[in-house]
Amino acid sequence: MALPAGLSIFDLTGRVALVTGGSRGIGWEAARALAGAGASVALVGRDPATLGARVDELAAEGHSAAYFAADLSDPKVAASVAAACEDRYGHIDILFNNAGINHRRPLQEFELEDFERVIATNLTSCFALSKAVAKGMAARGFGRIVSTSSIMSVTARPTIVAYIAAKGGLSAMTRALATELGPSGITVNAIAPGYIATEMTLPLQQNAEFDAMMGQRTPLRRWGKPEEMAGAIVYLASDAAAYLTGQTIVIDGGLTIAI
Ligand SMILES: NC(=O)c1ccc[n+]([C@@H]2O[C@H](COP(=O)([O-])OP(=O)(O)OC[C@H]3O[C@@H](n4cnc5c(N)ncnc54)[C@H](OP(=O)(O)O)[C@@H]3O)[C@@H](O)[C@H]2O)c1
Repeated sequence: MALPAGLSIFDLTGRVALVTGGSRGIGWEAARALAGAGASVALVGRDPATLGARVDELAAEGHSAAYFAADLSDPKVAASVAAACEDRYGHIDILFNNAGINHRRPLQEFELEDFERVIATNLTSCFALSKAVAKGMAARGFGRIVSTSSIMSVTARPTIVAYIAAKGGLSAMTRALATELGPSGITVNAIAPGYIATEMTLPLQQNAEFDAMMGQRTPLRRWGKPEEMAGAIVYLASDAAAYLTGQTIVIDGGLTIAI
């Protein structure tokens, strides 16, 4: 189903998108939007039941969708996830590196294993997946790699040291890969959401003090919705963003420009 003529620069018909963390939250809304723009989408997450239900939902809307259940806290699975998607669809045009976790503890209670698990899931898996898909993208001279960084890539709060290190690394890696893959026709960008109402931020949504601070400090006076990230992801995946690479686009209701 092609987009109307005026929107054809956003048309993803014939493209294949691999979406990690595609079972809920930002990843799910992005997958729906990518499918709505014409892409076939492959969802990755750990829970096959949720992923299967999401694929059914997309299929019922007339889209082509598949899922691959995998635990990306082991970045070694990335190569087999990419290979399975290439087997299913023949190629991968768009990688949305979005799966992520957080772990909140003061530094002296923050165990090394937890630090490493967050880095592996939020950063190392993005390296491994980008490496795995870039080969085929370079061979075809076209690719779009988009990652979900965070405003925590340029700001900070106590108790989430691994998350901040991972997201800072992800935005830096976005620049690194953009320089390396640009000559092969691959753009590499990221989005940096502010505070978005998803399962990940439930503890903060339920914290009255934090919720009030958010409302007062954010110029748009509310939490973001996961579907409000989707337009930027479709844009970055499309021909409309053909000359944009190495960037992290902040989508935070204005939170980080307000003092
Ligand atoms: N919400 C925010 O305010 C916010 C702000 C900035 C950035 N972000 C980033 O946005 C991304 C999506 O977050 P969200 O808010 O949409 O959170 P979410 O609702 O908790 O979704 C996280 C997704 O990642 C998947 N996932 C988690 N660990 C995984 C693993 N080891 N292997 C494979 N899949 C895994 C989850 O599926 P399973 O649990 O079934 O595996 C789920 O699909 C994350 O990278 C997050 O850091 C979020």
